Amino acid sequence: MSPSAAEQRQPRVYMETYGCQMNIADSQTVAAVLRRAGYAAAERPEDADVILLNTCAIREHAEERVLGRLSDLARLKHRRPDIRLGLLGCMAQHNRASLVEKAPHLDLVAGPDSYRRLPEMIGRAGFDPAVDVRLDRAETYADITPEHDGSVRAYVTAMRGCDKFCAFCVVPYVRGRERSVAPEDLLREIRELAQRGVREVILLGQTVNAYRFGDVDFGALLRMVARVDGIERIRFTSPHPSDMTERMIEAMASEPKVQPYLHLPVQSGSNRMLAAMERGYTVEQYLALVERLRAAIAGLALSTDIIVGFHGEELSDHERTLALIRSVGYDQAFTFKYSLREHTRAFRLGDTVSEEEKGRRLAEVIALQESISLERNRAAVGNLFPVLVEGPARRGEGMLAGKTPQFKTAIFPARGARPGDIVNVRIESATAHTLVGSIA
Ligand code: 5AD
Ligand code: SF4
Repeated sequence: MSPSAAEQRQPRVYMETYGCQMNIADSQTVAAVLRRAGYAAAERPEDADVILLNTCAIREHAEERVLGRLSDLARLKHRRPDIRLGLLGCMAQHNRASLVEKAPHLDLVAGPDSYRRLPEMIGRAGFDPAVDVRLDRAETYADITPEHDGSVRAYVTAMRGCDKFCAFCVVPYVRGRERSVAPEDLLREIRELAQRGVREVILLGQTVNAYRFGDVDFGALLRMVARVDGIERIRFTSPHPSDMTERMIEAMASEPKVQPYLHLPVQSGSNRMLAAMERGYTVEQYLALVERLRAAIAGLALSTDIIVGFHGEELSDHERTLALIRSVGYDQAFTFKYSLREHTRAFRLGDTVSEEEKGRRLAEVIALQESISLERNRAAVGNLFPVLVEGPARRGEGMLAGKTPQFKTAIFPARGARPGDIVNVRIESATAHTLVGSIA
């Protein structure tokens, strides 16, 4: 289809998103800001007047990927010098001006609190790049309704920033201080999403359960969101173990819409490492929390984040991490080699574990977790789960995919079911990552 005359006049923007769910949600906010300013979306960089990469700074590898992508795009810009090339997000904030030296073809660099000013920055970008990496303690973009992709699930940013300052983590430096979105703004956005066919919301925040606006805490917020008609399922990510309150556990246990799945990052199973990481809890406290959660919330699934090879990690610490993984029995784990990040408290301590040894420890953690995931998924065989249908499965003709309440992917023959339906699926077989079954 050829674009209409009006569309042809509209400048087009192409965007790529790296990193976490917060960035996906931020890109939807950026898309809304630019649409308001008269931009249309381009599907491919070749069709765009403006190319934006929304980036992640959490590990060095994430930054390297973006720098590689930028040099591909520089070639495109070489052919079409009128293209505006911009870098957004955490890496913009982390590297600031030095980015302009590393990537001289950039026209603009905007940190996570500068998206409102993007139209102006794109317009202003000339010989010198426009750089705006001011952090703003108050910015929540509460009045901007993010663009939604039309799927049955939507991310909704409930709070931004982080005040925890774990020793390894760059997030507090690149995303700034903790701030929560007013409940009425969140509820307005969620009601609109429900009207557009969204059935599941995932409330987002770097430490989402630190949410507080006036006297509304996270437990109260969960109960308010549960009152929104049309929203069938509520999830959130990521909670911090230290901010887990009784009120929030009660809300999870008693609100049927709040799904029995928690991503509860532990990082390490060694108290010595947890103290060095400044995580604010011990292994014993974490395990007691897991026990409380499992006692309160029926059918609870748990996942976690693990870092291997942090400064000073000995084999005995690593063994403790393996032991913790075994004793919790996570459904899933996201595992990372420690990556030294400038600005963080641990940066000056340097690395004590070699890349090779980090790789070995990582492989061990992954192999252990794979076996536990498989075991836990196999235990689901024969059982019936209500699955929210998302759409066609990636593989298998006529197969649909969706999530169980425990956030496990289930695939099954369609039999007339449609995205947005909740169907009961009996599980017939399982791998470490997928459940396969039929609608009962
Ligand atoms: N190196 C490796 N992993 C990290 N994470 C955060 N900072 C680092 C780092 N410097 C991991 C943590 C966090 C997840 C989002 O990323 O496990 O929970
Ligand atoms: Fe980073 Fe710790 Fe904040 Fe999570 S809680 S974003 S790991 S500083």
